[in-house]
Amino acid sequence: MKGVVLAGGTGSRLHPLTRVTNKHLLPVYDKPMLYYPLQTLVEAGIHDILIVTGGNSAGDFLRLLRNGKDFGLQQLNFAYQEGEGGIADALRLAEYFARGEKVCVILGDNIIEDSLLRAKQRFERQDRGAMILLKEVPDAERFGVPVFDGARIIRIEEKPKAPRSSYAVIGAYFYDHTVFDRIRTLQPSGRGELEITDANNSYLRDGELNYEILEGWWTDAGTFDSLWRAGNLVREKSLTRESVSAAGGGK
Ligand code: G1P
Repeated sequence: MKGVVLAGGTGSRLHPLTRVTNKHLLPVYDKPMLYYPLQTLVEAGIHDILIVTGGNSAGDFLRLLRNGKDFGLQQLNFAYQEGEGGIADALRLAEYFARGEKVCVILGDNIIEDSLLRAKQRFERQDRGAMILLKEVPDAERFGVPVFDGARIIRIEEKPKAPRSSYAVIGAYFYDHTVFDRIRTLQPSGRGELEITDANNSYLRDGELNYEILEGWWTDAGTFDSLWRAGNLVREKSLTRESVSAAGGGK
């Protein structure tokens, strides 16, 4: 399975922090934001990774990440998104890279406490379709939100004013190779973007979308409050690790 980190966009919700740099290069506690989703892919055993960037400071990604040595990688791949077409538009740039393989796509501002290894292994056993991850949140209206009929998702709504469940579709998705054909059929949403939620709904209509509920915490980091929260969560996790290892545990 290949990995794709989507790290473009203007980061307008973080102006003026993002006026001269890319959102994904901003610090989250002790590392640039992009380090976390990249680490998540590597820890799930995905080593063939494409980073899609765009907008401000695209060249800084190469200077920061070089060939991925900090992550134990031999090589990283980069693509450049022209304009502001949205998440699904950015993912289009991964078609050539994916070469028909399954992909795990992660948004560059999503920080996940636990490993995605189990989810990846489950998706490897799924012969076609897609898999999304859900997390219960207090502010579902900020995200893609599943509408359930019993345990079955019947629709995903993007940033609904009145969410029909308290789950967010987190920014880590598993797709088979049909995702690129599906994106070609999408129309821009009200915000002028090709929405990843519409790609997910396309799988849903074909009965090919599975989901898992994420354990551990998850946050995005694309607003002032979520960026602040992300820094705190990462800090607490790293302090817990330090105290566990100081006490001689965690070996
Ligand atoms: C995007 C997706 C949304 C998803 C969220 C996760 O939202 O459109 O469905 O729940 O990422 O972080 P955006 O960051 O564009 O507001």
